[in-house]
Amino acid sequence: MSRGLFLTLEGGDGSGKTTQAELLQEWLLREGRSVVRTREPGGTDVGLEVRELVLHHRGDIAPRAEALLYAADRAHHVATLVRPALARGEVVIQDRYIDSSVAYQGAGRVLDPGEVRRVSEWATEGLQPDLTVLLDLDEQAARARLDAARTRYDRLEAEASEFHARVRAAYLEIAAAEPERFLVVDAALPAAEIAEQIRDRVRPLL
Ligand code: TYD
Repeated sequence: MSRGLFLTLEGGDGSGKTTQAELLQEWLLREGRSVVRTREPGGTDVGLEVRELVLHHRGDIAPRAEALLYAADRAHHVATLVRPALARGEVVIQDRYIDSSVAYQGAGRVLDPGEVRRVSEWATEGLQPDLTVLLDLDEQAARARLDAARTRYDRLEAEASEFHARVRAAYLEIAAAEPERFLVVDAALPAAEIAEQIRDRVRPLL
């Protein structure tokens, strides 16, 4: 039996993770592999309840509570879905993992990124991806996509774009620190080209 493979996709909102997960799944199925596609938050029944709380709760959630909710979703997801699939020799393609917590919760500037990572590593008993694809959207492309959808920015949107820039910088920093785990792709490229870069990096891992 082939060994399991844990592949994660990271990147800002709207960077094309879903499209790439689909293309990667189709290719791996053609290669004869069993594939599980999943996501955080919300990859399990418990996770869906956590997702509802963390993404749709009206009112503030304290930053440490928010970080723990993502970690709780992750703990249950890894224990009940991801590890069993890997043990069966399957390929797990996952939309967002620990790096999302480090980039997003860390980019709020309130929490220490190293502490955020340690909480999730405890939650997952140290499960690391074999490969993480970062779909990096440069500022120009991100702005062009925003401009296509909006003619004016309100204060909130301006703030959101500053937060987005911090998340992007955090992701690039994480990727630079672990080049052997990461593939960084320019998310402004055509989807087919991105998919090819990902396949080239995954092929030797199969
Ligand atoms: P997601 O469902 O991937 O939304 P999108 O399709 O817009 O990328 O993720 C929902 C949000 O949750 C996203 O804005 C990032 C955030 N998030 C965190 O802040 N921390 C985390 O650990 C995870 C997994 C997601």
